[in-house]
Amino acid sequence: MTRRNFIEKSGNSYLAMMALGFFPEAPAKSFDLARNEKPNGKKVIILGAGLAGLASAYELGKLGYDCVVLEARERVGGRIWTIRKGTTETEIGGEKQTCQFDEGYYLNAGAARIPHHHHLTVQYCRELKIPVEIFGNLNEAGFQYSESNRGALANKRVRAREIHADMRGYLTELVAKAIDQQALDLEMSKEDVDRYVAWLREEGDLDINKKYKGSERHGYELAPGAGMRGGTIAKPYALKDIVESGLTHPAFANVGEYTFNQQPVLLQPVGGMDMIPKAFEKVVGDKVKRSCEIQEIRKTNPGVRIVYLDKKTGQKHEVKGDYCICTLPLPILKGIPSDLSGDVQRVADFVPYMETCKIGMQFKRRFWEEDDQIFGGITKTNMDITQIFYPAHGMLGPKGVLKGMYNFHGLAKKVGELSIADRQKLAFEQGSRIHPQYKDEFENAFSLAWHKIPYSKGGWGIYSDAARQRLYATMTKNDDDIYFAGEHASNLPAWMAGAFESARYAVELLHKRVSAG
Ligand code: ALA
Repeated sequence: MTRRNFIEKSGNSYLAMMALGFFPEAPAKSFDLARNEKPNGKKVIILGAGLAGLASAYELGKLGYDCVVLEARERVGGRIWTIRKGTTETEIGGEKQTCQFDEGYYLNAGAARIPHHHHLTVQYCRELKIPVEIFGNLNEAGFQYSESNRGALANKRVRAREIHADMRGYLTELVAKAIDQQALDLEMSKEDVDRYVAWLREEGDLDINKKYKGSERHGYELAPGAGMRGGTIAKPYALKDIVESGLTHPAFANVGEYTFNQQPVLLQPVGGMDMIPKAFEKVVGDKVKRSCEIQEIRKTNPGVRIVYLDKKTGQKHEVKGDYCICTLPLPILKGIPSDLSGDVQRVADFVPYMETCKIGMQFKRRFWEEDDQIFGGITKTNMDITQIFYPAHGMLGPKGVLKGMYNFHGLAKKVGELSIADRQKLAFEQGSRIHPQYKDEFENAFSLAWHKIPYSKGGWGIYSDAARQRLYATMTKNDDDIYFAGEHASNLPAWMAGAFESARYAVELLHKRVSAG
């Protein structure tokens, strides 16, 4: 199977892409431009006050540039958006929603996790004094639920640890058996083969005969306790039952442990992901003009002229600058009349954006903690909701908001087409098959389909291998006096690190050009 086939067949291409290592590490490159806050006489117009725009303004400020950031929304942050009590949103062609969460509860509707090796994201948290905490991405206590018309484990929740332990056991047993039968052509000495077998036994918790007969790793039927209660290890599931029930489908892939961008430890800002844009706002907020919708991007050779609509007054204005850093998401850019080159317009036309939905659901009781001992992490299912994320903050508190759905592609498209009430019904019905407690504990919800959110129109840019080869380089170069930044202008699509890395890259290109005269 080719990589492309695997992605297409997996039904969840984002996870497949991560599994295949399409999203590499953020480089540990330090920003080595000499700081000089004295005005240097050049004006840069930044389009969009998402992370790329804010970071561009921040870095350009350190270098003495005069910046203005034009932002269509009332808020900064773009796809870094935390939904709280009173948040309102009207999707394109949709109904107005107002968040009813209790004070202090929130949903990170966009970016929600920071891989530990995303140096620059972590560096900005350090530099702007944003406290962070652990985001529990991987949780062996999370459930897997396969909806299927066959298999002994179908349509019931099983713990991730049970499947992981059993599949490791069966896999290592199979390899050990093949070694015994000399079916594997191992280029190793006898001594090294023995070492390898010893490792397989350890890895799968095999018995002395290299058989997997179950393991405490799968968990207990009766946990060890006081007195004479030594505990009873639960029997493993039969391999046939796991496979037949659909639990080896890529929907249940162990991305949280295996893929580079999801391996522990991950982080989140204390109090919500919007602490990051809010911290930038403190240092560059005076440069941001809100409610300004870009209507034209023009080249004046030299320089740029940007026409925008002030949504508050309904008046059109224009602003001129020496340079522009455009961070607008490509689906937005492609609808704006401009003098951008054919190459840039091709990128905007041919790089699609991810359809993706989330729903925050408030419950009166943290039953996932109280009843099911789940503290953060993810439950996975092949139902439309795809995943349930448990909050990594507020543990042991009275209430909680969990993310009752996070899906992609066709599933997200389908859910996005539903009314707000029907999305909620769907998340409730599917989620309550895994957590029957939903029925008694549910309070309210707020959902969103990123592909229908104005000024975003999608989760993130998706580059196929071919598009990366053919189109991406255009995003790394200036189009006369216009530069590009944003996750779509990086090799880290779908990550805040992509926005930050590309912002620094654009600032560096621009500044080197200006410095060279
Ligand atoms: N990077 C995004 C995530 O963590 C897409 O799900």
